[in-house]
Amino acid sequence: MKRNVDVIVREVGPRDGLQLVKAIVPTETKLAWIKAEAEAGMVEFEVCSFVPPKVIPQFADARAVAGQALEIPGIRVMALTPNIKGAEIGFEVGVHALNYVLSVSKTHNEANVRRPREQSIADFVEIVKMRNADPKLKDMTIGCGLATALGCTLEGDVPEDETLRVLEQILEAGAEEVMLPDTVGYAHPAQVRSLFKKAIALAGDVPIVTHFHDTRGLGLANALAALEAGARHFDASLAGLGGCPFAPGATGNIVMEDLVFLLESEGLKTGVDIEKLRAAREIVEKALPDEPMHGRILKAGLPKGFTPATNLMAAE
Ligand code: COA
Ligand code: ZN
Repeated sequence: MKRNVDVIVREVGPRDGLQLVKAIVPTETKLAWIKAEAEAGMVEFEVCSFVPPKVIPQFADARAVAGQALEIPGIRVMALTPNIKGAEIGFEVGVHALNYVLSVSKTHNEANVRRPREQSIADFVEIVKMRNADPKLKDMTIGCGLATALGCTLEGDVPEDETLRVLEQILEAGAEEVMLPDTVGYAHPAQVRSLFKKAIALAGDVPIVTHFHDTRGLGLANALAALEAGARHFDASLAGLGGCPFAPGATGNIVMEDLVFLLESEGLKTGVDIEKLRAAREIVEKALPDEPMHGRILKAGLPKGFTPATNLMAAE
């Protein structure tokens, strides 16, 4: 899929955004959200998690959401999996990308996926082997998120060397995309600049994806620091929904609308029309009347005369 963009923004709201909210969003509403955002030019979506409904009831309809999202033209459908069983479901459904998750913090790994970190790494090796052994899956990307890569509410500081060591292991296992989430919003720009420079140098052609939570207000500053360090892939969530249910004190992701505004202001084409995100936002606001909705740019309006870096579709 050739795209006329400088940076890739990835909407993780239907997964990260919904895993912490109490209300169960109906399948049709999740799909209406994805469609509305696709109409604004968004291409990449993490649409669900393949987890036991007992663990996160919100994703009881994960197969249906992923299956129907695959019918929306032009989008790349990603899904999260915490284990081999979830990967098998992803293989069956045929998502474009599977995002495996493990944590650099050993304590968070136990809390989140109920096994030692080393076991999670070994299972990731297995998942890549399973994908490689099946010719039908040759176009499926296997990514890996290293939760708590920049700090952990259970362990506190997560040393940079530790994150880089785990990164090396999962690159060696064959990860084709790596997310370095700041799961609980502990990171600050100098830390981000340092880690992303080193991670990008280690990863070569494998994209290192940013994933910031705005818990302590440094989310967009961290995104800019990662950009300066060479990152070109950015996760965010519409209206800033999100947070890990198994990380105490976790709150929402950086706001997609504001991230697009930041990147376009930097002269970088995202392919996303900020004003058109309003329609998607209205769907989410209506579906979740009790959740706080974040974001400044669509509340304040674009600056008078603001020119985005591109209008992708018109430019092509
Ligand atoms: N999808 C659906 N069902 C699954 C599953 C998956 N990915 N993984 C396991 N199961 C089922 C098993 O088949 C088993 O079913 P049974 O009771 O009918 O036999 C049951 O769930 C328990 O399986 P087990 O392997 O013992 O899982 P667990 O209880 O040790 O939980 C995880 C491990 C990884 C499944 C769980 O901790 C989890 O889902 N974590 C995800 C956390 C998350 O999404 N965090 C936010 C994103 S970072
Ligand atoms: Zn997250």
